[in-house]
Amino acid sequence: MTDPDFTALRTSAVHKLAAAGCFDRAPWAREAVLTIKRERFVPHDIWVWAGSGYRAVSCPADPQAWAAAVYDPVKAVVTQIDDGEHDPRTTTGTVCGAATSSVSALDIVCIKLGFLGLEAGHKVLDVGAGSGVNTALLEERAGPGNVVTIEVDQGLAEQAERNLRAAGYTARVVCGDGEKGFAEEALYDRLICTAAARRIPRAWREQVRPGGIILTPYGSLFSSSGLLRLAVGPDGAAEGRFVHTASYMWLRAHRAPGGRPPRDGEERLSASPADPDKVLDGDWHADFAIGQLVPGLTMQRTTGAGDHRILLWDGADSFASVCCDGWDEGDSVLEQGPRSLWGEVLTARSWWDEHGRPEITRFGLTVTAGGEHHTWLDAPENRLPRGRT
Ligand SMILES: C[S@@+](CC[C@H](N)C(=O)[O-])C[C@H]1O[C@@H](n2cnc3c(N)ncnc32)[C@H](O)[C@@H]1O
Repeated sequence: MTDPDFTALRTSAVHKLAAAGCFDRAPWAREAVLTIKRERFVPHDIWVWAGSGYRAVSCPADPQAWAAAVYDPVKAVVTQIDDGEHDPRTTTGTVCGAATSSVSALDIVCIKLGFLGLEAGHKVLDVGAGSGVNTALLEERAGPGNVVTIEVDQGLAEQAERNLRAAGYTARVVCGDGEKGFAEEALYDRLICTAAARRIPRAWREQVRPGGIILTPYGSLFSSSGLLRLAVGPDGAAEGRFVHTASYMWLRAHRAPGGRPPRDGEERLSASPADPDKVLDGDWHADFAIGQLVPGLTMQRTTGAGDHRILLWDGADSFASVCCDGWDEGDSVLEQGPRSLWGEVLTARSWWDEHGRPEITRFGLTVTAGGEHHTWLDAPENRLPRGRT
């Protein structure tokens, strides 16, 4: 078997990224991606999605498949499942679990660099080091000594440090909770996060200089799909727009609480006034809006023999089960708890339809100096109605 031609794979990936416009806002990133040998950062044992679970792929055993995954321009390389509970070197078959670390896909990495507005000499805090390959990209632009990266997982932090040093980069690698930032080297001109947030940590606003930028995936448990670009104000408030879609794994403390809905209290039965599959049709932009409009919402779809249901939970004491077949019958919606979750979802979807089905990029967020979060449409004064219906 011949060895993979990494130079050819890298060049081909860069051509595809350029054709897709991924370097348009940060032309410097093209050279940086060509410079960095991504194959030296990605672990030799990775996870590849195999339809119903993850399958381990090893570089020594299948170098071509491994190399293709490393240089796939549009797919992340999953490097850890369930915080490292499964070892890809000893796993046979597929594993069902949640990806907890990855090397982000090159397309969204380059798009994010474009929105970060990174200049030579900028001081940058990079939250979520993973393998360290993005940290290397940041250092290519900001320069040696200007990048700090923080990773919560000790094994990953050590690996990132080894990878960066072996490739000649100087970035400081800190093992810790990125939500606390890294005060010792503040103030930063830029903060970039590679995990999704549901609220903006106070430390980020405190450690980025006024006029500096925070760029992070941001969303709700229902939909983690927006890339948020906030400018920090002189009083520590921060404001900005969602500039792109972005789907990332959560910052550790922002993951879904887990557990099961309590299913306590009186059961209320009703018909649904609209087809549930049309209300929750998978449109990213609709889901983003619904997630912002209905606090705490999580959803699960279940499919049994002739029974296709949507289960909704607010993480507290409200629950709804919506039967998709026969949705207009009087017992198709079952709700429990103080909130009418299906009612809230219907209202949120109508709001989105009535406002012209706005895309994510029409939304923005204001975080006040006191830490209140307000999502808005088009302009900060148009706050989203948030709360119970
Ligand atoms: C999608 S990976 C990104 C890795 C790398 N930056 C990249 O883009 O290739 C997200 C990383 O964030 C880390 N992470 C999650 N929560 C964190 C936290 N609170 N502080 C620091 N790192 C965190 C995870 O362990 C994971 O390695």
